[in-house]
Amino acid sequence: MSILIKNCRILVKDKLYVKNILIKNGKIAKITNKELKADKIIDAKNNLVLPGLIDVHVHFREPGLTHKEDFLTGSMAAAKGGITTILDMPNTIPPTTTIVALEEKRKLAAKSIVNYGFNFGASGNISDIKKAKNIAAVKLYMDPTTGDLKTDDLELIKDVLKASKLIIAHAEEDNVKSLIEIMAKNKIKNHLHVAHVSSEMELNHAKSRKLKNVTVEVTPHHLFMNEKDLQALGAFAEMKPRLKTENDQKALWHGINNGMVDVIASDHAPHLKEEKEKANYPFGVPGVETMLPLLLDAFNKNMITLPKIMELCCENPAKIFRIKNKGLLKEGYDADLVIADIEKRQAVRSEDLLTKCKWSPFEGKILKGWPVATIINGNVVYDNGQIFGIKAKEVQYGR
Ligand code: DOR
Ligand code: ZN
Repeated sequence: MSILIKNCRILVKDKLYVKNILIKNGKIAKITNKELKADKIIDAKNNLVLPGLIDVHVHFREPGLTHKEDFLTGSMAAAKGGITTILDMPNTIPPTTTIVALEEKRKLAAKSIVNYGFNFGASGNISDIKKAKNIAAVKLYMDPTTGDLKTDDLELIKDVLKASKLIIAHAEEDNVKSLIEIMAKNKIKNHLHVAHVSSEMELNHAKSRKLKNVTVEVTPHHLFMNEKDLQALGAFAEMKPRLKTENDQKALWHGINNGMVDVIASDHAPHLKEEKEKANYPFGVPGVETMLPLLLDAFNKNMITLPKIMELCCENPAKIFRIKNKGLLKEGYDADLVIADIEKRQAVRSEDLLTKCKWSPFEGKILKGWPVATIINGNVVYDNGQIFGIKAKEVQYGR
């Protein structure tokens, strides 16, 4: 089966060109000016075409918390948001900290319509970490959040850093500093990816020793909101790490544009409205459907360039997580792509959302720039409001 997507506005070395993309057997076969023959023709109508986004940080809640989300609803929401690959987090019930739990999650994830991978949880389980097959990274929690995976034991943390090729850390404030010091003192060569950096201090801590094997992730909620939004939204803007000051928000944007930030990931953390309305509400906000629209809107406001969006949402996630054949529009790479109308203005409306939780902290915000179609492994999975439930694949890593 071959598809020709014609009239794609794509970035080649930071310049926009209109090209045709031929897809064969789920791969990008040719990027060309020619109108090649194909079984099916799709007209991208000069819209922007980007590599599908790789979201390295989502909570799809399966197993155990499927009243909030599951791999089908989460992946439908991701596809609608132009995300073609997700890496799931381990704070499910049971947590993904054993081989049995990992294999169980692997079976459940087969229903996903976006490509998927798994982050394994650290909790004194070094032998399981060493045995776990085809995992994206090991997630280390140093601060409290949803689930029960927090650890303060510095010896254990050191062992986890030594045992895992790639560690994603949930570390806040001074814990970022402690981690970097452990990395430096023990000359740890494995890669540390600091999740959801939320403040100027955390950013500076993460980059303090200029370690080449340390990368920084920021989330759309910390980029597009600050503590002032807590007044209006209350629990619906409460997440870990918490929203910070306007100055911190500016520092994150500065970090994006000066190369200190390596990845933008959604930290999609859905909870039901009724859970958020309780006095002891859980932390987290959904994000897979709004990440790309928020970034395209920011592009339209000259806050970020298109090459930067591609670097932080496609290319770097693939590089850091060593995801094979993804993250670029390149011949031979997987045909994971998103067609986006950068002129389209539309409000974020909860009734349009596919996430099970059906709300967004960005509700009512009018954004300019929306995905219109998403192609995964060469299949049209989302097209103008419609989802086609074609199953995707587990990611393979080059290590
Ligand atoms: O706000 C958050 N929610 N932060 C996290 O680190 C976890 C997440 C969740 O799973 O709900
Ligand atoms: Zn998270």
